Amino acid sequence: MTGHPMQPEFQFEEGFAIAQDERDPLREFRERFLFPRASGDNCVYLCGHSLGLQPKTAAAYITRELQEWARLGVEGHFRAENPWMPYHRLLAEQTAELVGAKPVEVVVMNSLTVNLHLMMVSFYRPTQARHKIVVERGAFPSDQYAVKSQIQFHGFDPESSLIELTPRPGEACVCEEDIEALMEREGEQIALIMLGGVNYSTGQAFDMARVTRAGRERGCVVGFDLAHAAGNLQLKLHDWDADFAVWCSYKYLNGGPGCAAGCFVHERHAEARELPRFAGWWGHDEQARFEMGPKFQAMRGAEGWQLSNPSIVSLAALRASMEIFHEAGMARLREKSVSLTGYLEFLLDEKASSTFSIVTPRERARRGAQLSIKVRLGGRELCERLAQEGILGDWREPDILRVAPVPLYNSFHDVFRFVRRFRATIG
Ligand SMILES: Cc1ncc(COP(=O)(O)O)c(C=O)c1O
Repeated sequence: MTGHPMQPEFQFEEGFAIAQDERDPLREFRERFLFPRASGDNCVYLCGHSLGLQPKTAAAYITRELQEWARLGVEGHFRAENPWMPYHRLLAEQTAELVGAKPVEVVVMNSLTVNLHLMMVSFYRPTQARHKIVVERGAFPSDQYAVKSQIQFHGFDPESSLIELTPRPGEACVCEEDIEALMEREGEQIALIMLGGVNYSTGQAFDMARVTRAGRERGCVVGFDLAHAAGNLQLKLHDWDADFAVWCSYKYLNGGPGCAAGCFVHERHAEARELPRFAGWWGHDEQARFEMGPKFQAMRGAEGWQLSNPSIVSLAALRASMEIFHEAGMARLREKSVSLTGYLEFLLDEKASSTFSIVTPRERARRGAQLSIKVRLGGRELCERLAQEGILGDWREPDILRVAPVPLYNSFHDVFRFVRRFRATIG
């Protein structure tokens, strides 16, 4: 039996799931989200790792800005109830709280891959002696394209400058010991470690404190892609001492498709104006921005990496969700998440099967909400059949069904219903 500190034993019966939901102190948050209805009223939505659900309040936040635009036109930049010029700052406190940072260390801007490039422009400074970048072999393709193109941009060759962390033979996930051993062997040649906080495919969560320590001790820059970690795990970016991190806001953060992304730059770089950067007017000293002078003067902290004025509609939607996160609190969410995902694992483990296996690490500290289920045959069709019934996970080639019970809006009964249908469909 696996468990949760307050719930040491899971049980297989449906009544257990229902009782757990009744006892859940976070249960009312589910009512604050809109569930898809395309396949009926009883959707089991386990796709928050891909696109989070819409908070019911998002429409009001957006409508408010549309009304301000209608009322004020261009004057909304300075005279709206929440003026648009500093609007992104309304998100700073709650974003900082969410990722364990100081407000000066975070900014919401652009999209994830854009932010990753901006960070690498400043923090990947290869030399002949130290030019390598470490990524996971199975890193999200956009990250792979981004790091390879940065290596090439500096005149190096990914063949010799990219190190891909590979799981040991027969294993699905990377060992942190192997990262430390790599640092021992090649640390002096490594310019940048750039890992996903949670791997998008396996669901493995890295020990980011440990990775950062190992890298920084060897003089490497350490950055994280937190697309699958922000709003999922409890993060302490400042204390861990990471150099930078980037994340999107449309997965666990429920900001909506294409929502503006997050970026963290450690406070020790807040005044580092000598760092090379791709500059834009929104990163220029706010007091002097509208003087339209020719000389760029970066703002202090993460804000100094902004390029353009952001989409206020997108930021407004994100505010709706961040209010909810603030209220629920990441500590409580994570506690429920550990329990929900443990329950999912427990039900999947009930009967051993040769048709599927869980590839996500079994240790709770090495995963977030998501479990990745390797389906030996016909997994894509299985996923499609479940979707027709309104049971939504998603499929990643070649053989992974990803499901993530999200503590803000998923219930134990959702997990129960998913496993019951999964087992009946897989046969
Ligand atoms: C781990 C990871 N990195 C990067 C991206 C790319 O994000 P964007 O399209 O917002 O740049 C994604 C998108 O799903 C992702 O999952």
